[in-house]
Amino acid sequence: MAERATLREVGPRDGIQMAKRFLETERKLEWALRLKAAGVKEIELTSFVPPKVVPQFADADQLAQGLPRLEGVVASALIPNLKGAERALAAGFTHVNYVLSISEAHSQSNVRRSTDEAIAEFERIAALKDTEQGRGMVLGVGLATAFGCTLQGYVAPERVWQVARHVAAGGADELIVADTVGYANPAQVKMLLPPIIEIAAGRRVICHFHDTRGLGLANVAAALETGIRVFDSSLAGLGGCPFAPGATGNINTEDTAYMLESMGFSTGIDIEALLNLRRDVENWLGDERYSGAIARAGLPKTFEAAE
Ligand code: COA
Ligand code: ZN
Repeated sequence: MAERATLREVGPRDGIQMAKRFLETERKLEWALRLKAAGVKEIELTSFVPPKVVPQFADADQLAQGLPRLEGVVASALIPNLKGAERALAAGFTHVNYVLSISEAHSQSNVRRSTDEAIAEFERIAALKDTEQGRGMVLGVGLATAFGCTLQGYVAPERVWQVARHVAAGGADELIVADTVGYANPAQVKMLLPPIIEIAAGRRVICHFHDTRGLGLANVAAALETGIRVFDSSLAGLGGCPFAPGATGNINTEDTAYMLESMGFSTGIDIEALLNLRRDVENWLGDERYSGAIARAGLPKTFEAAE
């Protein structure tokens, strides 16, 4: 039996938050349903941010009405604050991903709060678990700009570990270590992650890499060596943070699935089905930056999925 690895598809969230065209709710749902059919087990479906901040997610409540059709998939929503958490729970999500920037400059740009203020907001969100409304909530915390920041530059690993320790003790169920702007390199990944895995003490640690400078899959390989088995990725390599200058695409789901399967990690994903889906997504979205080596070159004749 092959060891398992999990891809959390963030295309319908990270992937389109900078897209020029508004994608109709029906299309977003079709995207998610076809991901499910292709074997994707976890999807970050939308974001509960004010529509005037990111108009693409104005339909988050409507999209949530499709959740019953996604049964069997872990569908989550991004939240930037307590209000986002309350909206996500009211809409029917149990899994939420709270973004907390380690870089002060990115935190101010993204959520108009210092990192310490964002930590205080985390505590208010975690407190929801003790309420009727928040019962069963699974709270992921995204440690954004953990590897560096386009606005501020250096981000101290000690600060990443300190915040990780704080949120793990305060009710985070999962830690998502995010290279929001594509600054990470494999040596840095191997240095930063082991203490986080230790701090997480059995909670899932997920890596969220962007391929901005071409090191996305190298970073995945490095993270695998540290024991990480869950990765965020985006169909066609779409994505990027509108509040981090120069940010570009997430690691590409098709290429990441290909690498994992080739290395003997079973993802359960049908790569050909993803390639069909991406052709449609490209038509729906029009002019965007699409990446991917497998979409360009095809799977090798020798490819065998891990079983
Ligand atoms: N969903 C909907 N409306 C929200 C909201 C949410 N999650 N959070 C706040 N609002 C509303 C408030 O109710 C208020 O409405 P009003 O003007 O009608 O009273 C208004 O937005 C301003 O609220 P405030 O708390 O002052 O927020 P802000 O203007 O300081 O913005 C954030 C803070 C966090 C809401 C905003 O910066 C944000 O959405 N950032 C996330 C950006 C993002 O998506 N980044 C990419 C992913 S990492
Ligand atoms: Zn991202």
